[in-house]
Amino acid sequence: MDRERENRRLYGRAQGHKLSARQQALVDEMLPGLDWPDEGPVDPAALLPGFTAHVLEIGFGASEHLIGQAARALETGFLGIEPFLNGVAKALTGIEAQGLKNVRVKRGDARDELERMPDAVFDQVYLLFPDPWPKSRHAKRRFVQPDTAGHLARVLKPGGRLRVATDVRVYADWALPLLLDRPELDWTAERADDWRTNPADHIVTRYQSKHLGDIDPVFMDFRRAA
Ligand SMILES: C[S@@+](CC[C@H](N)C(=O)[O-])C[C@H]1O[C@@H](n2cnc3c(N)ncnc32)[C@H](O)[C@@H]1O
Repeated sequence: MDRERENRRLYGRAQGHKLSARQQALVDEMLPGLDWPDEGPVDPAALLPGFTAHVLEIGFGASEHLIGQAARALETGFLGIEPFLNGVAKALTGIEAQGLKNVRVKRGDARDELERMPDAVFDQVYLLFPDPWPKSRHAKRRFVQPDTAGHLARVLKPGGRLRVATDVRVYADWALPLLLDRPELDWTAERADDWRTNPADHIVTRYQSKHLGDIDPVFMDFRRAA
């Protein structure tokens, strides 16, 4: 493990209230069966073989968006990464309740997992309402940084899409230039409504509906150049 990774810290909670017995059983029994390796490369085509399209959601929280999108597109493979155990347990509950065969989840830090992923493997990556860390002295904690922006661009297939959403002004002002700086990424917005309204395919989560930020949500959609 390199020094950068050793120095990384996850801020925020890794677990909240105690899991129910059912959730604990899913974490103990179902999660290991989802076969996400702890070491070595993480290749979506190996994790979910037989799917031609793959989608990644980073920091899926209570998993409403991940599970909702996966239930809509059973022919697409979905990978989700979330450090918060209660969120992972909710995703497992959704996978089981809906009998989904097209979802794999990892309890972990998406920065580490992104580094383990090959180039050009995802058709879509979602980073929705990442923890905002609005104070400038906490800027280093924000998920979008020059290196993660590079990985987000790198793991997209040519023509693949990235969606970053936030309802915090400083986060939008911080993330947009870092993403625009990536030569591989084209911002697809043509008019203000393209970033100021929920995209047609979006699923609103409980977190988003709480309106904790200081602006209406903005959706920054990018396409990786072919
Ligand atoms: C504000 S919540 C939003 C949750 C969800 N995306 C939604 O829109 O409802 C941010 C989420 O990002 C997760 N998170 C924070 N740092 C992360 C990291 N390094 N890798 C993956 N997820 C992370 C948090 O645990 C939390 O669940």
